[in-house]
Amino acid sequence: MPSTLTNSHASSTYGANPVKKGEVRLNEMGSEVVEGYTCKPKDYDPNRPIMHYKTLLLLCDDERCGKAGKTDKASELREILKDMGLNKGENRIKVSRTGCYGACRFRQVCQVTENTQANGNPNNNAIWLRHTHNFKEEDWRRIFTLLSTDQDLKNELEEKHFIPMKVYE
Ligand code: FES
Repeated sequence: MPSTLTNSHASSTYGANPVKKGEVRLNEMGSEVVEGYTCKPKDYDPNRPIMHYKTLLLLCDDERCGKAGKTDKASELREILKDMGLNKGENRIKVSRTGCYGACRFRQVCQVTENTQANGNPNNNAIWLRHTHNFKEEDWRRIFTLLSTDQDLKNELEEKHFIPMKVYE
């Protein structure tokens, strides 16, 4: 039976943490980070491949969705993923911010894409979630667990969390 996600605003306080003067830090790709940045590598290689991901969450951060979210949701989600060990490895879930999808009425919009060129679950590909600014941290943890264990979101979450799509006829 699909679960109900709680609809109260997340209260977590995550944020950017740039490298300070004299600090040495490696980013997730193992490169030393430039002072004042959180992940910019000192040794830039234009041909370096992008890092593997199984699932990519495209989170709208444009004006209306961003205002609905109020907090830096992408950074919050990345911290949760780090805590769950899903920020790297075979089942990595990547979070990227996007501009407006023209679907502001469903804000804060989040598109789920699966890396079907690798080990992504096709059943969760091209799914759109709505009103995600109301999801609490535990809701995101549940979604991340479902995604990383290849459980189908459509079977596990209530219909009200999905953005309906008109299929071409
Ligand atoms: S601002 Fe997010 S869909 Fe328009």
